Amino acid sequence: MQEFLSRLQRPLQSIVVLTGAGVSAESGIPTFRASDGLWENHSIEDVATPGGFKQDPNLVHEFYNQRREALLSHGIGPNQAHSALARFQSIFEDQYPGNFTLVTQNVDNLHERAGSLNVLHMHGELLKSRCYQTGSIFNQQKPLNVDSVCRCCRSLGNLRPHIVWFGELPLEIPKIENSLTTCDLFIAIGTSGLVYPAAGFYEQAKKCGAHTVEINLATTTSNFDTQLSGYASDLVPRFFSQLASFLGLAT
Ligand code: APR
Repeated sequence: MQEFLSRLQRPLQSIVVLTGAGVSAESGIPTFRASDGLWENHSIEDVATPGGFKQDPNLVHEFYNQRREALLSHGIGPNQAHSALARFQSIFEDQYPGNFTLVTQNVDNLHERAGSLNVLHMHGELLKSRCYQTGSIFNQQKPLNVDSVCRCCRSLGNLRPHIVWFGELPLEIPKIENSLTTCDLFIAIGTSGLVYPAAGFYEQAKKCGAHTVEINLATTTSNFDTQLSGYASDLVPRFFSQLASFLGLAT
């Protein structure tokens, strides 16, 4: 684990962390591509594409209503990986003259619940809805259905989950691209690296001279400079505690 520190070649000005479903797996939220995964019993086309929503909005609303309800249920909360990231961000931003960017593909709010600020949710947020007509975004804790009345246009059927479906453009890309161009250390946690553009971020960071690190239960085929294999709840706290010591941060 400590070996990666000796491979950091320049002073760290900017750190980018990309998280995927694996960071929330130990909180009880199934990953996408595991056998017990989120898509079970549904094809991606049916529940995660604009065409699927057009064809059967009730099914799609029900699918996301269930995910929302599960996220809000007792017993679901941030795990030690989310907490370690939030703690690191806080001390880094307080004590170090650099930038820290947290990008997540996850639509849950567990980073925020652990205390992370300014999380870039590139695939949207489960606890938000959006008006098809105006693009306005609303907090959404209650179930949505085709009879839900939009708060901006007062129309029925205009509200959809604030989720980036397959075939749609991810959110926050200009901010993410900007942080990748100045990045010295890029860390991908719990993502299979199968869905673009997120899957290409480590290469973009590498091209700009960043050291790239992967933390994953099973190392992926991507060509990271450092690959750490194990549970996020174990590795993330250890990794960021060592990074904090390396940077001379008081914890
Ligand atoms: N600790 C670390 N890594 C883990 C853990 C864990 N406890 N559990 C699972 N993983 C790893 C798996 O090995 C896998 O590589 O997390 C990864 C999860 O991969 P996916 O299920 O493909 O999730 P993700 O990469 O976030 O998916 C990207 O695809 O379906 C779309 O929009 C959806 O945001 C999602 C995107």
